[in-house]
Amino acid sequence: MLAGAILDSSGTRILLARRARPVELAGLWELPGGKAEVGETDEEALRRELAEELGIAVGVEFELRDQVVLSDELVLIARWARVIAGEPTAREHQAVRWVDAEELSTLCDEGRLVPADTVWVPELVARLRRA
Ligand code: CDP
Repeated sequence: MLAGAILDSSGTRILLARRARPVELAGLWELPGGKAEVGETDEEALRRELAEELGIAVGVEFELRDQVVLSDELVLIARWARVIAGEPTAREHQAVRWVDAEELSTLCDEGRLVPADTVWVPELVARLRRA
């Protein structure tokens, strides 16, 4: 599983998307992404998923520090990325929004992020504040 911490052009906000399913995660915000298909690199998978789900082209950069083991087959990895083209549109999500460090912290504290994604919040907040 690849998730993208997608930075806006000012470098101060990242993109969150609100999940529509499954029921236990519906309404919670996540770093958007998806699963790699056979033969795809992580970077290719993330670029394809973000094009499909949000209609954006991204440049994929480094991996964030933490990985989350969701199950025997599913490990969640997040990569830092930047929008190259397109305006994010919720095609498979309920909504999308750009958040700065403050808003990301607040959503996390309020329990409004997908649980697995909370591991990245400290690193993301630090990176956004440094911008
Ligand atoms: O599209 P589908 O619901 O099949 O799957 P997905 O969006 O690729 O996500 C699969 C699972 O990964 C979700 O049910 C979540 O448990 C987890 N996930 C997550 O915890 N955080 C993300 N940013 C993305 C996915």
